[in-house]
Amino acid sequence: MKVLANDGISQSGIDALEKGGYEVITTTVAQEQLINYINENDITVLLVRSATTVRQDLIDACPGLKIIGRGGVGMDNIDVEYAREKGLSVINTPAASSHSVAELVFGHLYGLARFLHNANREMPLEGDSNFKGLKKAYAKGTELKGKTLGVLGFGRIGQATAKVALGAGMKVIAFDPFLEKANLKLDFFDGQTVSFDIETISKEEVLKQADFITLHVPAQKDYVIDEAEFNLMKDGVILANAARGGVINEVALVKAIESGKVARAALDVFENEPKPEMQLLMNPALSLTPHTGAATNEAQDRIGEELASQIINILG
Ligand SMILES: NC(=O)c1ccc[n+]([C@@H]2O[C@H](COP(=O)([O-])OP(=O)(O)OC[C@H]3O[C@@H](n4cnc5c(N)ncnc54)[C@H](O)[C@@H]3O)[C@@H](O)[C@H]2O)c1
Repeated sequence: MKVLANDGISQSGIDALEKGGYEVITTTVAQEQLINYINENDITVLLVRSATTVRQDLIDACPGLKIIGRGGVGMDNIDVEYAREKGLSVINTPAASSHSVAELVFGHLYGLARFLHNANREMPLEGDSNFKGLKKAYAKGTELKGKTLGVLGFGRIGQATAKVALGAGMKVIAFDPFLEKANLKLDFFDGQTVSFDIETISKEEVLKQADFITLHVPAQKDYVIDEAEFNLMKDGVILANAARGGVINEVALVKAIESGKVARAALDVFENEPKPEMQLLMNPALSLTPHTGAATNEAQDRIGEELASQIINILG
């Protein structure tokens, strides 16, 4: 049977599929040629990430297709319900990148606490002429240890981020309207484990108590952080959004930075992707990444391997 991985797949995923007797094709077929390609090449499994879309017309026109797989979490680019109604299996890999996102958040938080985002911008320009000035400018860093991390959205990534925070010596508080408590198991290199129970509290309390706030909610209709929420936060809070563009009101964020409510913030996702607002890109209080939360080699390997094992489970 043939698998078309139209947006790519890790070598470990290819190896696992080939071992299971599948032929894996990694050619990127243009969207408008995809239906023809699938039918002409007898493709049974179509794997995508976020670039390729799988809509009703494709599902109707490709009766040989048995599985649609998304490497990653969100399946906005697939008509999932329709595909399932037509008898196809639709699979994804929701847990594969949680720890990668959690580590990116901590990269940002440690960086922001010590002004690394600014130092990295300024050292190439002034590091030789104004070393002492820059040293003074970035002298008032803070430690994360002993501080309170507020996690909004306590699902897979929220909990993975909480584990990193606990390992870093932070107090963790969390809000999730659909979850009362979670048990977090921290695994150490030598097999020792520590088990932690965290009960969620109200959103208001999280916003009021946290020194650092990180968002791990799904995409939704309304902003999760808007002007009213900023007003509840401690003065000088540090914020991270590696969830989805549109969960923080970016205009309100810039205002909160200007008023001093928010000291600094990290954004991996933007309302206007892939063209974030220039006032965000140029803002010295922001630490920025181009939606690379899940983009690690380890996550890609896990995604490929998880897809392969699910495909083999379903089709044999
Ligand atoms: N930056 C990246 O590259 C990257 C990579 C993967 C996922 N993500 C995003 O991270 C987010 C979280 O992913 P996940 O795998 O942890 O999802 P998840 O479904 O496991 O967890 C989300 C949690 O948020 C909770 N929630 C829903 N609405 C809420 C609200 N208004 N306030 C507080 N909590 C709320 C849900 O109950 C759930 O427990 C998603 O938006 C996903 O798209 C980003």
